[in-house]
Amino acid sequence: MEIQSSKILVLCLVMFCLSVQLEGQLQNDFYCNTCPSAERIVMEEVRNAFMNDKGIAPGLIRMHFHDCFVRGCDASILIDSTSSNTAEKDSPANNPSLRGFEVIDNAKARLESQCKGVVSCADILAFAARDSVILTRGRGYNVPAGRRDGRVSLNSEVFQNIPGPGSNVSVLTQRFVNKGLTKEEMVTLSGAHTIGRSHCTSFSNRIFNFGGTNGADPTLDSNYVTQLQQQCPQGSTNSGLVVPMDPVTPFTSDVNYYQDVLANRGLFTSDQTLLTDSTTLSEVNQNAGNQYLWLNKFAAAMVKMGQIDVLTGSDGEIRENCRVIN
Ligand code: HEM
Ligand SMILES: *[C@@H]1O[C@H](CO)[C@@H](O)[C@H](O)[C@H]1NC(C)=O
Repeated sequence: MEIQSSKILVLCLVMFCLSVQLEGQLQNDFYCNTCPSAERIVMEEVRNAFMNDKGIAPGLIRMHFHDCFVRGCDASILIDSTSSNTAEKDSPANNPSLRGFEVIDNAKARLESQCKGVVSCADILAFAARDSVILTRGRGYNVPAGRRDGRVSLNSEVFQNIPGPGSNVSVLTQRFVNKGLTKEEMVTLSGAHTIGRSHCTSFSNRIFNFGGTNGADPTLDSNYVTQLQQQCPQGSTNSGLVVPMDPVTPFTSDVNYYQDVLANRGLFTSDQTLLTDSTTLSEVNQNAGNQYLWLNKFAAAMVKMGQIDVLTGSDGEIRENCRVIN
Protein backbone atom coordinates (compact mmCIF):
# COMPACT_ATOMS: atom_id res chain seq x y z
CA MET A 1 0.00 0.00 0.00
CA GLU A 2 2.79 2.39 1.03
CA ILE A 3 4.87 1.48 -2.01
CA GLN A 4 1.89 1.79 -4.26
CA SER A 5 1.05 5.33 -3.19
CA SER A 6 4.63 6.54 -3.36
CA LYS A 7 4.87 5.11 -6.87
CA ILE A 8 1.79 7.07 -7.81
CA LEU A 9 3.30 10.19 -6.29
CA VAL A 10 6.48 9.81 -8.35
CA LEU A 11 4.47 9.15 -11.46
CA CYS A 12 2.39 12.24 -10.86
CA LEU A 13 5.49 14.38 -10.36
CA VAL A 14 7.00 13.08 -13.58
CA MET A 15 3.80 13.70 -15.50
CA PHE A 16 3.56 17.14 -13.97
CA CYS A 17 7.09 17.98 -15.07
CA LEU A 18 6.82 16.48 -18.52
CA SER A 19 3.74 18.38 -19.61
CA VAL A 20 4.36 19.18 -23.27
CA GLN A 21 5.40 22.65 -24.24
CA LEU A 22 3.03 24.15 -26.74
CA GLU A 23 4.75 25.82 -29.64
CA GLY A 24 5.31 29.51 -29.04
CA GLN A 25 3.66 29.54 -25.64
CA LEU A 26 4.85 30.03 -22.13
CA GLN A 27 4.04 27.50 -19.44
CA ASN A 28 3.81 27.27 -15.69
CA ASP A 29 6.63 25.37 -13.94
CA PHE A 30 8.75 25.67 -17.05
CA TYR A 31 11.96 24.97 -15.12
CA CYS A 32 10.51 22.01 -13.23
CA ASN A 33 12.99 19.55 -14.80
CA THR A 34 15.83 21.78 -15.90
CA CYS A 35 16.23 24.00 -12.85
CA PRO A 36 13.70 23.12 -10.16
CA SER A 37 14.95 25.72 -7.68
CA ALA A 38 14.80 28.61 -10.17
CA GLU A 39 11.74 30.35 -8.76
CA ARG A 40 12.84 29.75 -5.16
CA ILE A 41 16.26 31.31 -5.81
CA VAL A 42 14.72 34.38 -7.43
CA MET A 43 12.29 34.74 -4.53
CA GLU A 44 15.14 34.54 -2.02
CA GLU A 45 17.11 37.25 -3.79
CA VAL A 46 14.11 39.55 -4.10
CA ARG A 47 13.13 38.98 -0.47
CA ASN A 48 16.64 39.67 0.82
CA ALA A 49 16.89 42.85 -1.19
CA PHE A 50 13.41 43.94 -0.10
CA MET A 51 14.28 43.50 3.60
CA ASN A 52 17.13 45.91 3.02
CA ASP A 53 15.20 48.38 0.83
CA LYS A 54 11.47 48.15 0.27
CA GLY A 55 11.83 50.28 -2.86
CA ILE A 56 13.17 47.22 -4.64
CA ALA A 57 9.61 45.89 -5.04
CA PRO A 58 8.15 48.86 -6.92
CA GLY A 59 11.42 49.08 -8.83
CA LEU A 60 11.17 45.53 -10.16
CA ILE A 61 7.47 45.78 -11.03
CA ARG A 62 8.11 48.91 -13.06
CA MET A 63 11.18 47.33 -14.67
CA HIS A 64 9.06 44.41 -15.89
CA PHE A 65 6.52 46.87 -17.38
CA HIS A 66 9.26 48.84 -19.14
CA ASP A 67 10.79 45.62 -20.42
CA CYS A 68 7.53 44.24 -21.80
CA PHE A 69 6.45 47.44 -23.55
CA VAL A 70 9.63 47.71 -25.61
CA ARG A 71 10.30 44.69 -27.87
CA GLY A 72 8.27 42.45 -25.57
CA CYS A 73 9.32 40.80 -22.32
CA ASP A 74 12.79 39.88 -23.55
CA ALA A 75 15.02 41.44 -20.88
CA SER A 76 16.09 44.17 -23.32
CA ILE A 77 15.75 46.58 -20.40
CA LEU A 78 18.68 44.85 -18.66
CA ILE A 79 21.26 45.27 -21.42
CA ASP A 80 24.00 47.82 -20.76
CA SER A 81 24.89 50.48 -23.29
CA THR A 82 28.13 50.01 -25.19
CA SER A 83 30.43 52.41 -27.03
CA SER A 84 28.39 51.83 -30.18
CA ASN A 85 24.86 51.57 -28.73
CA THR A 86 22.70 53.50 -26.28
CA ALA A 87 20.43 50.90 -24.71
CA GLU A 88 16.86 51.19 -23.37
CA LYS A 89 18.05 51.51 -19.79
CA ASP A 90 19.75 54.80 -20.63
CA SER A 91 16.62 56.44 -21.99
CA PRO A 92 15.50 59.32 -19.74
CA ALA A 93 12.35 57.25 -19.11
CA ASN A 94 14.57 54.71 -17.31
CA ASN A 95 17.74 56.43 -16.19
CA PRO A 96 18.08 57.40 -13.36
CA SER A 97 14.66 56.30 -12.14
CA LEU A 98 14.66 52.51 -12.71
CA ARG A 99 16.02 50.51 -9.82
CA GLY A 100 16.66 46.90 -8.85
CA PHE A 101 19.10 45.81 -11.57
CA GLU A 102 21.53 44.31 -9.04
CA VAL A 103 18.79 42.03 -7.68
CA ILE A 104 18.44 40.46 -11.13
CA ASP A 105 22.24 40.19 -11.41
CA ASN A 106 22.46 38.37 -8.07
CA ALA A 107 19.69 35.93 -8.95
CA LYS A 108 21.26 35.30 -12.36
CA ALA A 109 24.70 34.62 -10.83
CA ARG A 110 23.22 31.99 -8.50
CA LEU A 111 21.18 30.43 -11.28
CA GLU A 112 24.18 30.24 -13.61
CA SER A 113 26.18 28.41 -10.96
CA GLN A 114 23.30 26.02 -10.31
CA CYS A 115 21.89 25.46 -13.80
CA LYS A 116 24.21 26.97 -16.35
CA GLY A 117 22.64 28.49 -19.45
CA VAL A 118 19.09 27.49 -18.54
CA VAL A 119 17.11 30.32 -16.95
CA SER A 120 16.51 33.40 -19.10
CA CYS A 121 16.91 36.93 -17.76
CA ALA A 122 13.43 37.72 -19.06
CA ASP A 123 11.93 34.96 -16.88
CA ILE A 124 13.99 36.05 -13.88
CA LEU A 125 12.54 39.54 -14.23
CA ALA A 126 8.98 38.20 -14.60
CA PHE A 127 9.42 36.03 -11.48
CA ALA A 128 10.97 38.94 -9.57
CA ALA A 129 8.05 41.23 -10.45
CA ARG A 130 5.58 38.61 -9.21
CA ASP A 131 7.59 38.17 -6.00
CA SER A 132 7.52 41.94 -5.55
CA VAL A 133 3.73 41.91 -5.84
CA ILE A 134 3.61 39.26 -3.10
CA LEU A 135 6.04 41.13 -0.84
CA THR A 136 3.87 44.24 -1.01
CA ARG A 137 0.89 42.09 -0.02
CA GLY A 138 -0.64 41.84 -3.44
CA ARG A 139 -2.09 38.63 -4.79
CA GLY A 140 0.42 36.01 -5.97
CA TYR A 141 0.08 34.32 -9.35
CA ASN A 142 1.77 31.65 -11.41
CA VAL A 143 4.20 33.05 -13.94
CA PRO A 144 4.08 31.12 -17.21
CA ALA A 145 7.73 30.93 -18.29
CA GLY A 146 9.97 29.93 -21.16
CA ARG A 147 10.79 33.44 -22.35
CA ARG A 148 14.08 33.80 -24.21
CA ASP A 149 16.34 36.84 -24.08
CA GLY A 150 16.53 39.37 -26.89
CA ARG A 151 19.69 40.58 -28.54
CA VAL A 152 18.63 44.16 -29.22
CA SER A 153 18.09 47.12 -26.90
CA LEU A 154 17.68 50.61 -28.32
CA ASN A 155 17.16 53.86 -26.46
CA SER A 156 15.41 55.13 -29.59
CA GLU A 157 12.53 52.68 -29.17
CA VAL A 158 11.57 53.68 -25.64
CA PHE A 159 9.63 56.92 -26.08
CA GLN A 160 7.29 55.66 -28.76
CA ASN A 161 6.27 52.71 -26.57
CA ILE A 162 6.34 53.78 -22.91
CA PRO A 163 3.66 56.36 -22.11
CA GLY A 164 4.89 59.50 -20.38
CA PRO A 165 3.39 60.97 -17.18
CA GLY A 166 1.81 63.81 -19.18
CA SER A 167 -0.27 61.45 -21.35
CA ASN A 168 -4.04 61.81 -21.64
CA VAL A 169 -6.44 58.89 -21.48
CA SER A 170 -6.60 58.42 -25.25
CA VAL A 171 -2.84 58.18 -25.58
CA LEU A 172 -2.64 55.80 -22.60
CA THR A 173 -5.36 53.59 -24.02
CA GLN A 174 -3.69 53.51 -27.42
CA ARG A 175 -0.29 52.58 -25.98
CA PHE A 176 -1.83 49.66 -24.11
CA VAL A 177 -4.00 48.54 -27.01
CA ASN A 178 -0.84 48.56 -29.15
CA LYS A 179 0.48 45.88 -26.79
CA GLY A 180 -2.70 43.83 -26.81
CA LEU A 181 -3.94 45.14 -23.47
CA THR A 182 -7.41 46.61 -22.99
CA LYS A 183 -8.44 49.97 -21.61
CA GLU A 184 -9.67 48.19 -18.49
CA GLU A 185 -6.29 46.50 -18.07
CA MET A 186 -4.64 49.89 -18.47
CA VAL A 187 -6.67 51.20 -15.53
CA THR A 188 -5.98 48.02 -13.54
CA LEU A 189 -2.22 48.17 -14.14
CA SER A 190 -2.04 51.89 -13.37
CA GLY A 191 -2.91 50.78 -9.83
CA ALA A 192 0.77 49.81 -9.53
CA HIS A 193 1.22 53.47 -8.63
CA THR A 194 -0.09 52.56 -5.20
CA ILE A 195 3.52 51.67 -4.35
CA GLY A 196 6.85 53.35 -4.92
CA ARG A 197 8.06 56.81 -5.60
CA SER A 198 8.45 59.43 -8.25
CA HIS A 199 11.16 61.94 -8.94
CA CYS A 200 9.93 65.53 -8.66
CA THR A 201 10.95 66.06 -12.27
CA SER A 202 8.20 63.68 -13.45
CA PHE A 203 5.38 66.00 -12.31
CA SER A 204 6.95 69.40 -11.52
CA ASN A 205 5.15 70.89 -14.55
CA ARG A 206 1.89 70.36 -12.62
CA ILE A 207 2.84 72.25 -9.49
CA PHE A 208 4.68 75.28 -10.90
CA ASN A 209 3.69 77.36 -13.89
CA PHE A 210 1.33 74.72 -15.28
CA GLY A 211 0.98 75.27 -19.03
CA GLY A 212 2.38 78.79 -18.64
CA THR A 213 -0.33 79.81 -16.13
CA ASN A 214 2.11 80.67 -13.36
CA GLY A 215 -0.02 78.50 -11.07
CA ALA A 216 -0.56 74.81 -10.43
CA ASP A 217 -2.69 72.37 -12.40
CA PRO A 218 -6.21 73.38 -11.30
CA THR A 219 -7.37 69.77 -11.41
CA LEU A 220 -4.91 68.86 -8.62
CA ASP A 221 -6.09 69.12 -4.99
CA SER A 222 -4.69 72.41 -3.65
CA ASN A 223 -3.51 71.01 -0.28
CA TYR A 224 -1.68 68.33 -2.15
CA VAL A 225 -0.12 70.98 -4.39
CA THR A 226 1.20 72.83 -1.33
CA GLN A 227 2.63 69.62 0.09
CA LEU A 228 4.31 68.73 -3.20
CA GLN A 229 5.73 72.24 -3.60
CA GLN A 230 7.40 71.85 -0.21
CA GLN A 231 8.82 68.45 -1.09
CA CYS A 232 9.94 69.60 -4.52
CA PRO A 233 11.15 73.22 -4.22
CA GLN A 234 11.07 75.13 -7.50
CA GLY A 235 14.49 75.48 -9.07
CA SER A 236 16.06 72.95 -6.72
CA THR A 237 19.32 71.68 -8.10
CA ASN A 238 18.83 68.33 -6.42
CA SER A 239 17.65 66.13 -9.28
CA GLY A 240 17.42 63.16 -6.89
CA LEU A 241 14.39 64.50 -4.98
CA VAL A 242 11.57 61.96 -4.79
CA VAL A 243 8.10 61.67 -3.26
CA PRO A 244 6.02 58.58 -2.51
CA MET A 245 3.17 58.15 -5.00
CA ASP A 246 0.80 56.87 -2.30
CA PRO A 247 2.03 58.77 0.77
CA VAL A 248 -0.13 56.79 3.23
CA THR A 249 0.93 53.21 2.39
CA PRO A 250 3.85 53.50 -0.06
CA PHE A 251 4.76 49.80 0.05
CA THR A 252 1.35 48.14 0.20
CA SER A 253 -0.57 46.94 -2.84
CA ASP A 254 -3.95 48.40 -1.91
CA VAL A 255 -6.61 50.54 -3.59
CA ASN A 256 -5.42 53.81 -2.04
CA TYR A 257 -4.17 54.77 -5.49
CA TYR A 258 -7.72 54.82 -6.84
CA GLN A 259 -9.00 56.67 -3.79
CA ASP A 260 -6.22 59.24 -4.26
CA VAL A 261 -7.12 59.68 -7.93
CA LEU A 262 -10.78 60.22 -6.99
CA ALA A 263 -9.67 62.84 -4.46
CA ASN A 264 -7.71 64.69 -7.19
CA ARG A 265 -4.49 63.49 -5.63
CA GLY A 266 -3.24 61.43 -8.50
CA LEU A 267 0.39 62.47 -8.91
CA PHE A 268 0.67 62.44 -12.69
CA THR A 269 -1.57 63.81 -15.43
CA SER A 270 -1.68 60.17 -16.57
CA ASP A 271 -3.31 59.24 -13.24
CA GLN A 272 -5.72 62.17 -13.08
CA THR A 273 -6.80 61.68 -16.69
CA LEU A 274 -8.51 58.41 -15.76
CA LEU A 275 -11.34 60.58 -14.40
CA THR A 276 -11.98 62.23 -17.75
CA ASP A 277 -13.44 59.25 -19.59
CA SER A 278 -16.64 57.52 -18.53
CA THR A 279 -15.26 53.97 -18.93
CA THR A 280 -12.04 54.59 -17.04
CA LEU A 281 -13.85 56.66 -14.39
CA SER A 282 -16.21 53.81 -13.68
CA GLU A 283 -13.24 51.42 -13.41
CA VAL A 284 -11.52 53.76 -10.97
CA ASN A 285 -14.69 53.93 -8.88
CA GLN A 286 -15.10 50.18 -8.89
CA ASN A 287 -11.48 49.50 -7.92
CA ALA A 288 -11.49 52.18 -5.22
CA GLY A 289 -14.34 50.38 -3.50
CA ASN A 290 -13.28 46.77 -3.95
CA GLN A 291 -9.74 45.83 -3.05
CA TYR A 292 -10.35 42.11 -3.50
CA LEU A 293 -11.56 42.71 -7.05
CA TRP A 294 -8.62 44.92 -7.95
CA LEU A 295 -6.01 42.57 -6.46
CA ASN A 296 -7.39 39.75 -8.60
CA LYS A 297 -7.60 41.85 -11.74
CA PHE A 298 -4.08 43.14 -11.15
CA ALA A 299 -2.63 39.63 -10.85
CA ALA A 300 -4.38 38.57 -14.07
CA ALA A 301 -3.25 41.70 -15.92
CA MET A 302 0.36 41.15 -14.82
CA VAL A 303 0.24 37.63 -16.28
CA LYS A 304 -1.05 39.06 -19.55
CA MET A 305 1.46 41.89 -19.63
CA GLY A 306 4.19 39.30 -19.03
CA GLN A 307 3.32 37.59 -22.31
CA ILE A 308 3.68 40.59 -24.61
CA ASP A 309 5.71 39.67 -27.73
CA VAL A 310 7.75 37.01 -25.94
CA LEU A 311 10.54 35.10 -27.65
CA THR A 312 10.20 31.33 -27.22
CA GLY A 313 11.59 28.04 -28.53
CA SER A 314 14.90 28.68 -30.25
CA ASP A 315 14.38 32.41 -30.78
CA GLY A 316 16.73 34.77 -28.97
CA GLU A 317 19.14 33.30 -26.44
CA ILE A 318 19.68 32.53 -22.76
CA ARG A 319 21.95 35.36 -21.78
CA GLU A 320 24.89 34.42 -19.58
CA ASN A 321 25.08 37.88 -18.03
CA CYS A 322 21.84 39.82 -18.09
CA ARG A 323 23.67 43.04 -18.94
CA VAL A 324 25.48 41.71 -22.00
CA ILE A 325 24.40 39.96 -25.20
CA ASN A 326 26.16 36.58 -25.49
C1 HEM B 1 -0.30 54.06 -17.53
C2 HEM B 1 0.85 54.61 -17.90
C3 HEM B 1 1.99 54.84 -16.95
C4 HEM B 1 2.70 55.98 -16.83
C5 HEM B 1 2.50 57.26 -17.63
C6 HEM B 1 3.66 55.77 -15.79
C7 HEM B 1 4.61 56.71 -15.38
C8 HEM B 1 5.40 56.58 -14.27
C9 HEM B 1 6.32 57.58 -13.80
C10 HEM B 1 6.59 58.92 -14.46
C11 HEM B 1 6.87 57.11 -12.65
C12 HEM B 1 7.87 57.84 -11.76
C13 HEM B 1 9.29 57.54 -12.17
C14 HEM B 1 10.23 58.44 -11.38
O1 HEM B 1 10.23 59.64 -11.63
O2 HEM B 1 10.95 57.94 -10.49
C15 HEM B 1 6.32 55.82 -12.39
C16 HEM B 1 6.63 55.03 -11.32
C17 HEM B 1 6.19 53.73 -11.17
N1 HEM B 1 5.41 53.05 -12.04
FE1 HEM B 1 4.41 53.78 -13.64
N2 HEM B 1 3.52 54.52 -15.30
C18 HEM B 1 2.51 53.90 -15.99
C19 HEM B 1 2.09 52.59 -15.82
C20 HEM B 1 2.67 51.70 -14.97
C21 HEM B 1 2.44 50.28 -14.99
C22 HEM B 1 1.57 49.55 -16.02
C23 HEM B 1 3.16 49.75 -13.98
C24 HEM B 1 3.31 48.32 -13.56
C25 HEM B 1 2.40 47.40 -13.71
C26 HEM B 1 3.81 50.85 -13.30
C27 HEM B 1 4.57 50.74 -12.16
C28 HEM B 1 5.22 51.78 -11.56
C29 HEM B 1 5.87 51.67 -10.26
C30 HEM B 1 5.83 50.46 -9.35
C31 HEM B 1 6.49 52.90 -10.02
C32 HEM B 1 7.36 53.27 -8.82
C33 HEM B 1 8.80 52.96 -9.18
C34 HEM B 1 9.78 53.07 -8.04
O3 HEM B 1 9.40 53.31 -6.88
O4 HEM B 1 10.99 52.88 -8.31
N3 HEM B 1 3.52 52.01 -13.95
N4 HEM B 1 5.45 55.51 -13.41
C1 LIG C 1 -4.28 63.62 -26.15
O1 LIG C 1 -2.94 63.90 -26.41
C2 LIG C 1 -2.59 63.78 -27.77
C3 LIG C 1 -1.07 63.88 -27.89
O2 LIG C 1 -0.57 64.95 -27.14
C4 LIG C 1 -3.35 64.82 -28.59
O3 LIG C 1 -3.01 64.72 -29.96
C5 LIG C 1 -4.84 64.62 -28.39
O4 LIG C 1 -5.55 65.65 -29.04
C6 LIG C 1 -5.19 64.59 -26.90
N1 LIG C 1 -6.57 64.16 -26.77
C7 LIG C 1 -7.44 64.79 -26.01
C8 LIG C 1 -8.83 64.24 -25.99
O5 LIG C 1 -7.14 65.76 -25.34
